[in-house]
Amino acid sequence: YYGSVINPVTLMSFKAHTSCLIAVGPTGNIEWMVEDVPDSMVQETMAAHGYIDVDVVPLRSGEFIMPGLCDTHTHASQVPNLGSGQQYELLAWLENMTFPMESKFADIDFARRTYTSVVRRMIDSGTTTCCYFATIHLEATKILAEIVNQCGQRAFVGKCNMNQNSPEHYIEPSPEASISATKALISHIKQLPSNPHATEPLVQPILTPRFAISCTSPLLILLGELAASDPNLRIQTHVSENPAEVTFTMSLFPECSSYAGVYDTTGLLRANTILAHAVHLTEDEIELVAKRKAGISHCPTSNFNLNSGVAPIGAYLDRGIKVGLGTDVSGGYSPSILNAIQNASIASKVIAMQHRDEPAAPGKFSNRQLSVASLLYLATLGGAEVCNLENSVGSFAVGKSFDALVVNVRNDAGNPAMWAEDSAPRNLETMLEQFFFCGDDRNISRVYVQGQLIGGRSVNSTGL
Ligand code: GUN
Ligand code: FE
Repeated sequence: YYGSVINPVTLMSFKAHTSCLIAVGPTGNIEWMVEDVPDSMVQETMAAHGYIDVDVVPLRSGEFIMPGLCDTHTHASQVPNLGSGQQYELLAWLENMTFPMESKFADIDFARRTYTSVVRRMIDSGTTTCCYFATIHLEATKILAEIVNQCGQRAFVGKCNMNQNSPEHYIEPSPEASISATKALISHIKQLPSNPHATEPLVQPILTPRFAISCTSPLLILLGELAASDPNLRIQTHVSENPAEVTFTMSLFPECSSYAGVYDTTGLLRANTILAHAVHLTEDEIELVAKRKAGISHCPTSNFNLNSGVAPIGAYLDRGIKVGLGTDVSGGYSPSILNAIQNASIASKVIAMQHRDEPAAPGKFSNRQLSVASLLYLATLGGAEVCNLENSVGSFAVGKSFDALVVNVRNDAGNPAMWAEDSAPRNLETMLEQFFFCGDDRNISRVYVQGQLIGGRSVNSTGL
């Protein structure tokens, strides 16, 4: 690939090269990369690396390559509810909108139809790595994992564990039943065919205790034991999203000193745990999460939409906590990480406005609005860190997988919000910023995972 490339480096900086040559081998991994190669030197540079008679994919002006987006928290089963239910806060929303929809996935045909379009839509939104919650249903969740695997997306797929405080028609009968279905899902996913060149299988199981409210202590303890038997098994759950949820949680687990403590005492808070939301963590909980090296999925669209609050992401970054972005469909009303980027920016500005008289200290993120570099980082490498995949995806480097987007901000992408007089006049940094704030899936022309072209506008020009 030859052309403009955006590469995240830290929370403060990214690289923007207009003439970068990236060599992707047959394994889908990056074999070598030269950041600034003049047009006239492309063939020579290739030959110097032993690349003779190899095709170059040239990017047009107004196109650039960036790492694929990582959605660290979404509910595949809630996509049919997108854009409805914004009148509720969390607990009423679960009861009135979410559980009724999720219970429909007992129907395998409905699940197959729905998940097929969901995964297509996620990929075409530019999500190359996705952490999916499904439902309590084993068979439907197996189908989701199979579809994701067939489509070639990198993903973690989890079956929700829920055996209390759920409606009678949508609850697991016992901790043992919940665990045995979870084990069956893990075995099923582990035997799916995988790309042999990937460092880890593209699709992996993930333990998914929905949240403390929906799990009894015995179930959480059994899940902790299952986690202890496989240190590589990721865990995803919700934490401290909404004030009424926190109060209810503490009433259910009075022996625990905090909400995060419920997960910690059962062995579910560890370096590969993904905590969604984390809007209302106490100082002690922030310390605990940092100590355990767990990651936080920042879901700002959902946090606004369900009136949950504004997560203090800058404070978490200052504590060295890993943070990625999540769409939290359908608490969030968009399946696109671009929309999460926009709302993460606004959330950080809300906090900055509330603290005008306590401006951010130099080099600190608390009370500071997120920069384009920080937003890029959270959406890519930060998400990869939250998934413990930072050595294989999230940025471009030799040995990493080519999980990438070709972004097209030219007029021919057909997004009027990005229209430009001469189609591609902007510098690369401006193109990235405008893509973040005005772009959508029309501007994502190709989506690659492990070097394979799996979607994007140029592939699915008719959309769904
Ligand atoms: N807490 C427990 N379940 C859910 C869910 O489905 N969405 C959100 N946003 N929060 C939750
Ligand atoms: Fe969620």
